[in-house]
Amino acid sequence: MKILFYTPLTDAAAWLHDLTRALPGAELREWQPGDTAPADFAVVWRPPRELFAPRAGLRAVFNMGAGVDAILALEREHPGTLPRDALLVRLEDTGMAPQMVEYTLHSVLRYLRRFDEYAALQAQRRWQMLDPHPRETFTVGVLGLGVLGTQVAQAIAALGIPVRGYSRSAKQIDGIATFAGEAQLGAFLDGAKVLVNLLPHTPDTHDVLNARVFSQLARGAYLINVARGAHLVEQDLLDALASGQIAAATLDVFREEPLRPDHLFWQHPRVTITPHSSALTLREEGIAQIAEKIGALTRGETVGGLVDIARGY
Ligand code: NAP
Ligand code: GLV
Repeated sequence: MKILFYTPLTDAAAWLHDLTRALPGAELREWQPGDTAPADFAVVWRPPRELFAPRAGLRAVFNMGAGVDAILALEREHPGTLPRDALLVRLEDTGMAPQMVEYTLHSVLRYLRRFDEYAALQAQRRWQMLDPHPRETFTVGVLGLGVLGTQVAQAIAALGIPVRGYSRSAKQIDGIATFAGEAQLGAFLDGAKVLVNLLPHTPDTHDVLNARVFSQLARGAYLINVARGAHLVEQDLLDALASGQIAAATLDVFREEPLRPDHLFWQHPRVTITPHSSALTLREEGIAQIAEKIGALTRGETVGGLVDIARGY
């Protein structure tokens, strides 16, 4: 079995080493420009289009993360990039859900208990008690109720905070008020105090965090974007922060990464920035899942995490 590997990240050697150990008998090679030799599987993160150039025998492409937007953008720009019969498989959780839960819980609690405002007061040496936000009306809306969004919604609800969830298809989740499809987006947003974004980036969700959406939240709402930068209309957020419609935002992802040094977000007193680090792919868990799925496909079994290319996630 021949396996092609590519990542632009710095830990490529460690991945190759550990993949080789997890797949004894497989012939692993790191893709180099010009390599068009046959392969059965590819394990990739943000691959260049050339990696897919005539690869008729490729059975499956494993994405080393949850979001497959970079690969599907190549396919949209250059139809036929992905070999027609190859499956596209993404990572499911592999340790990302607990990290996402930690990150979003921290952010929600920071805003609920006004730690962001106390930090600003401390910087001015001001001893001032702020009225607490009532927990009963501090409604959190989670956009996306997939592998990550469901666990995030449940963890926040476990604190007794009201939680709503939004997805494409209808769902029933204990303790969460669920909404599905465009027709219910307004009811989902209506008066929510915090919006957490965990949608995949697809043509349908591009620019979904925009002025119209912000205007339906409670006045002084909070935004937590941990999905993709292309979900957010940046100028709409800056305007909403200026008007007070949005009180503060925590942003882990950006339209352009790394964020340019002169970007307005860096200096904004009510924007918190992290460098796309809310939930990292954990090598050991990721490799175990990929090796297990390669084994299952080789035995002719089906696997989870199959991407529906037409749907975009
Ligand atoms: P997932 O399991 O595929 O879940 C996606 C959810 O979004 C599903 O509930 C889906 O609805 C919903 N959805 C998709 N398109 C929609 C639309 N047009 N309208 C309404 N709902 C829609 O994905 P996941 O594993 O939870 O990951 C979500 C995203 O998080 C990834 O795509 C990635 O971009 C991002 N992410 C970021 C980081 C980071 O470090 N910042 C790390 C990991 C992941 P259905 O349930 O009805 O299909
Ligand atoms: C990270 O952003 C991922 O999609 O796994």
